[in-house]
Amino acid sequence: MTKSLYRNELAAFKPYVQGKPIEAVRREYGLDRIEKLASNENQFGPSPLAVQAIKDDLSELVFYPESYPFDLMEELSEYLGVPKENICVGPGGEGLLWQIAMTFINPGDEIIVSDPTFDVYRISTSLMGGTTVKAPLAGQRFDIEAMLAAVNGNTKIVYLCSPNNPTGHIASSEEVDRLTLGLPEDVVLVLDEAYYELAAFSPDYPSHNERIPLRRPNTIVLRSQSKTYGLAGVRFGYIITSEEIASRIRMVGPTFKLNRLAIAAARGALRDTEYRDMYVSENAKARETLLSYYQTKGWASFPSYANFVWTDTGLDSQRFFEELQRRGVIIRPGYLWGEQWKTYFRISTGTPEQMRFFIDRTEDVLKSW
Ligand SMILES: Cc1ncc(COP(=O)(O)O)c(C=O)c1O
Repeated sequence: MTKSLYRNELAAFKPYVQGKPIEAVRREYGLDRIEKLASNENQFGPSPLAVQAIKDDLSELVFYPESYPFDLMEELSEYLGVPKENICVGPGGEGLLWQIAMTFINPGDEIIVSDPTFDVYRISTSLMGGTTVKAPLAGQRFDIEAMLAAVNGNTKIVYLCSPNNPTGHIASSEEVDRLTLGLPEDVVLVLDEAYYELAAFSPDYPSHNERIPLRRPNTIVLRSQSKTYGLAGVRFGYIITSEEIASRIRMVGPTFKLNRLAIAAARGALRDTEYRDMYVSENAKARETLLSYYQTKGWASFPSYANFVWTDTGLDSQRFFEELQRRGVIIRPGYLWGEQWKTYFRISTGTPEQMRFFIDRTEDVLKSW
């Protein structure tokens, strides 16, 4: 037998498919105006305090960053009201999800996820040799019982994404409690709250989830600055967990996980409550615009607590996506999440102008359907 040059897991590995970049669409269709509303990016520009902090740090680029960014950790700890020993920072929520897989998954281990959800849980697990068990949603809610019933001796991690990508719906306080109480102690619960600030003002979003790891140690709450602060290009996120898990996750991956500019930007963004509040409010308005429009079309949507909306048009999503793209709007078609979702699509919220552009172009698509 010849030896394999590569890791065995790479043979069947399928990496994450990024939304189509604006430049590629421009080249293909020769359009003047293109609105990319496919990747849940913030369309209101980056946090000004984060941008200023980056500018102020530019002359320091000759130096390595701190591998443990002390001031940022202190500020984050104060912002969250959680000791810094329980916090771990990393290159975006995605980078931290990879660190989580590297920390916990042995070949043969299983993870449990809802379906549909963010695909990085499955992808990162598969590279470590683990497998993914999917628990389909029950209508517009998570099926907590099905997730608990899927637990067996091989289960390492259960991922609950709330607000969930791509649907935008949340787990209620009662559902989070049922899951945390129902899981065996030796199963890690990852609560992915990448869209936290956009949901947190709603009375039905469970508050103080960041405290769960303090009473159930094998829990990880994940957050990101990509969405709320318009910093997807910077790559900064953090987790809140037990001291023990935080110390293990810090060990995994490169020594310098955050570059200097990400550390500076993260500190600036933490102070930028004015920008955060503006975005939370603009995002809620854009969601309303989309939902009212969909209502006039008779299209069913999930209740969204994030910066995107998941809707069933009843039309083939691949064709709908292509027709919109040809007219300068990039969305994320539902077929990517499987056959069952082939008439759905996800679109990010944007400025009033962008929402009008999308509605105009959609009307144009529907005329020629
Ligand atoms: C549910 C969820 N978790 C995590 C992430 C990763 O975000 P980032 O790596 O930009 O922090 C995303 C990004 O879209 C997401 O939708």
